[in-house]
Amino acid sequence: MTDLIKAGLEDVVISTSEICFIDGQQGRLLYRGYDIDDLVVHSTFEEVVYLLWYGALPTRKELDAHVKALAASRRLPARLIGILKNLPRKTVPMEVLRTGVSALSAFDPDERDNSREATLRKAIRLAAQMPTLVAAWERIRRGKEPVAPNPRLGLAANFLYMLSGRKPTELEAKTFDVALILHADHEYNASTFAARVTAATLSDLHSAVTSAIGALKGPLHGGANEQVMLMVDQIKEPARAETWIRKALADKARIMGFGHRVYRVEDPRAKHLRRLAAELGRQAGNTAYVGILDTVARVVTAEKHIYPNVDLYSGAAYAIMGIPADQFTPIFALSRIAGWAAHVLEQHAHNRLIRPRAEYTGPTQATYVPISQR
Ligand code: SDX
Repeated sequence: MTDLIKAGLEDVVISTSEICFIDGQQGRLLYRGYDIDDLVVHSTFEEVVYLLWYGALPTRKELDAHVKALAASRRLPARLIGILKNLPRKTVPMEVLRTGVSALSAFDPDERDNSREATLRKAIRLAAQMPTLVAAWERIRRGKEPVAPNPRLGLAANFLYMLSGRKPTELEAKTFDVALILHADHEYNASTFAARVTAATLSDLHSAVTSAIGALKGPLHGGANEQVMLMVDQIKEPARAETWIRKALADKARIMGFGHRVYRVEDPRAKHLRRLAAELGRQAGNTAYVGILDTVARVVTAEKHIYPNVDLYSGAAYAIMGIPADQFTPIFALSRIAGWAAHVLEQHAHNRLIRPRAEYTGPTQATYVPISQR
């Protein structure tokens, strides 16, 4: 039996899904059949959220109603802000997000309703409230009052506005919207699988998303984008990048932002994030981050034949916009709530409890010895 075990469930197919297709050999990523290369050019994050949840692109009337519902749902309950203000200021933003999402269920009018209609209503509220939650913590931990959401701004622009207190430039807002599109879903990645396992017990959306946030926090998954920028900070300037990365590889270090369980070529999202980081860098007069990462990518690809993934350039774009590194993974979650909710809806619609087996390798004839004789 042991030889049947696939460590980390590598390449194990556990069910069908109509939400996301990844071609690991060709480096293609489709949401409901639409290539992300088309979506980043023609769509918006709000429209991609609709596509993932309903399985089709919205009409103008449907999109307007969807955008309005999201914009109208951004405010947080006052008592939740009170909970945030009672957390230690040093609390890690991903832990605040995990705690805040869990607490939001207590204030949600549909808390006890797991019907599709109620789950969709809860999904709208979570997709709208999570950006407000992340931005509110950034202000509170700096000793400032949260900035109220601006319903006249789109989801991406409003998040940047609440985070910094100033309206973003058009390039910043567009960059952030594209980054949200690129992170929205990715089949059965670890955090989405955690959400589906939770939903498969017929538990609720908030519980499934809390499970997912816990999984996303890990540096092998969503936490990699923050680790990449720690590497960039250690390298400091492009001229030092080649020596630094060759030593890291010689030391057998795991290089964050590279490699993937499914892609055997470059992650198709990386090229868009690199382009955005380069455009922002030129606008801000900071080309060092992309310069460093380009050198690291050249060496790692040539020496290890492992390729950039979604996390390599995303942090550079966020850092150039002035976003703190420990907010990069929460930003990943602000996008992935779209995919998590889509997968919870799909799991609930065609459910069977997810319960694999283990091959037991421990003792089977243990005799109990009284403690006085041990
Ligand atoms: C995300 O699943 C998803 O879709 C996730 C995601 C999504 O959108 O949800 O795409 C988002 O999580 C992207 C990945 C972010 N994580 C990182 O950037 C962390 C660094 N990457 C690696 O830890 C690794 O590539 C994983 C975790 C992403 C995948 O690991 P696997 O499939 O378990 O592969 P492995 O660890 O078994 O490595 C296979 C070989 C090993 O060499 P050997 O020991 O066999 O000689 O490749 C090497 C590894 O050492 N390797 C790396 C490496 N990744 C793999 N060596 C150095 N640096 C790396 N980054």
